[in-house]
Amino acid sequence: MRKILLLISLAKRGALGKMTPVTVRELAGELGTSPQTVLRLLREMEKEGLLRRESRGKRTLVEVTAEGARFLEELCEEITEAISGGVIIGEVVSGLGEGAYYVKLYAPLIREYLGFDPYPGTLNVRVLFPKTVFDALCNVRPVILPGFVKDGRTFGDVKAYRVRIDGVEGAIVIPSRTVHPPKIAEVIAPINLRERLGLKDGDRVRLEVVRE
Ligand code: CDP
Repeated sequence: MRKILLLISLAKRGALGKMTPVTVRELAGELGTSPQTVLRLLREMEKEGLLRRESRGKRTLVEVTAEGARFLEELCEEITEAISGGVIIGEVVSGLGEGAYYVKLYAPLIREYLGFDPYPGTLNVRVLFPKTVFDALCNVRPVILPGFVKDGRTFGDVKAYRVRIDGVEGAIVIPSRTVHPPKIAEVIAPINLRERLGLKDGDRVRLEVVRE
């Protein structure tokens, strides 16, 4: 782990493919370890081919080799693959009590486009991972619930993303005109999720994004 962090520190200092002066004391501070340990790690990593080292007088210069850079690249790909599986982790929060009104209005469209009769309301989930709900949904094509006019009022298009919450099929709904990623994901489902899953405010939930 410390080797990985050290390699990242060096890359950030511009040492990818270039001999770069470094301060061992500074690197040690960053890693929360001693200069002796940093020197040992650098020596080991040089043997492993991840970097090259030179001493000029009192100065230490380090270059991250192509092998070292490739190692970081592969690590980055592995991490991306591991965490970008369309999972959202969040916690249940209470809303303003507006969900029921809107879900009732859109209910015929939800039935037509998503195929279920929604429980009147939305389960509000404060998104903890990924950073924004858009990050989990960016590669997923939404089902568009088309806007309509009712009693002279206009109700806009809504994007619906199918999700599974503890095996129950539902959807995250986001008004299409939303520009900034909402911190709260509003989930609709055929049933009352709080009752079915025994959820209360502050409970963690996992939403699995369903790709069509
Ligand atoms: O007050 P709030 O905006 O959170 O709620 P609402 O949208 O009016 O929904 C009424 C209640 O049902 C809230 O406690 C929701 O969390 C809950 N709910 C649920 O458990 N499952 C759903 N599919 C929809 C709403």
